[in-house]
This record gives sequence, C-alpha cells and structure tokens, in this order.
Amino acid sequence: MAIRPILIYPDPRLHTVASKVSGVNDEIRQLIEDMAETMYAAPGIGLAAIQVNEPLQIIVIDVTPEKTHLQVFINPQILEAEGEEECEEGCLSVPGIYDWVKRAKKIRVTALNKEGETFEIIAEGMMAVCIQHEMDHLLGRVFVEKLSRLKHQRILTKLKKRQREKQGS
Ligand code: NI
Repeated sequence: MAIRPILIYPDPRLHTVASKVSGVNDEIRQLIEDMAETMYAAPGIGLAAIQVNEPLQIIVIDVTPEKTHLQVFINPQILEAEGEEECEEGCLSVPGIYDWVKRAKKIRVTALNKEGETFEIIAEGMMAVCIQHEMDHLLGRVFVEKLSRLKHQRILTKLKKRQREKQGS
C-alpha cells in the first residue's frame, strides 16, 4: 500500500475523461488499496482515480465517521436520479474550498466491486452527493466548475496565488 500524491486544481490532468476498467485484476486492486489509503490519510470521504493521476473509472468512498466502511465503485453508472438537494461540498483536489452544489437527492447506481462483480445500490444524503461528486471526476469535471463564473474565477485566483507562494518558499 502507498499514499499517492493528489493532483491539485487547476492541474489540467484533472480534466481527463477516465476510461472504463476492462478487467478487475490485482493491479486494479492494488490501485484501489492505494486510493483508499490516500483518501483516509488526507483525510477525505471520497476519491476518484484521476485524482491520483490514474484515468480509470474507479471511485472509493467512505462516509462513515468511524471510517470502517469502504465502498468501491468500478465503471459506475447512474440508472435513476430523483429530487434535488443542495449540499456544501469540498474536494481533496481543491483544498480549503467549500461551496454549495445542487445535485440529485436520491440515485440508483450500478457498478463493479473489487471482485469484479456487478452490484446496485440506492443512495441518499451524503452518500448520494459523494457518488455524484466523484462520478463528475470520471468525466474530468471538478465541483468548483459548477459554481458561478465569478466564484470559480475567485477560487482559481486563490489557488494560483497559493501555488505561487508555495513555489516561492
Ligand atoms: Ni473531488
């Protein structure tokens, strides 16, 4: 297991559209373990493979406070979505930035687990938000791009300034 570096917005690699996983083998399972370790260490509640520079359709999520229930979604698809809810979101690739995003309230999702078996879940609340947020990453989308142009611009300015300060120190 290894903690991998997380790409920080606006790294252009975060805009990569992830490819489907063609077979769940040991290499994929190793990547999933690394993703989980990286997410828990951050700490965060969700991580998409592209955030550790692997453009594959893989997501890890654990929304439990005890961090005891890792959920893995490989090649996830939303089958049904209903309702609307606004939640405050953050992202390990956009450190220190939180803002409100509107998403479906309840979703039905199918994916493969790390054994390569198909499963289906109905998610609501934080789990639904998290799955939708992470699935956006698979399409190369980051949550701050859902905000108003002005807010997005402010966030970009802030992150670029922070990066310059880091490089200068
Ligand atoms: Ni994110």
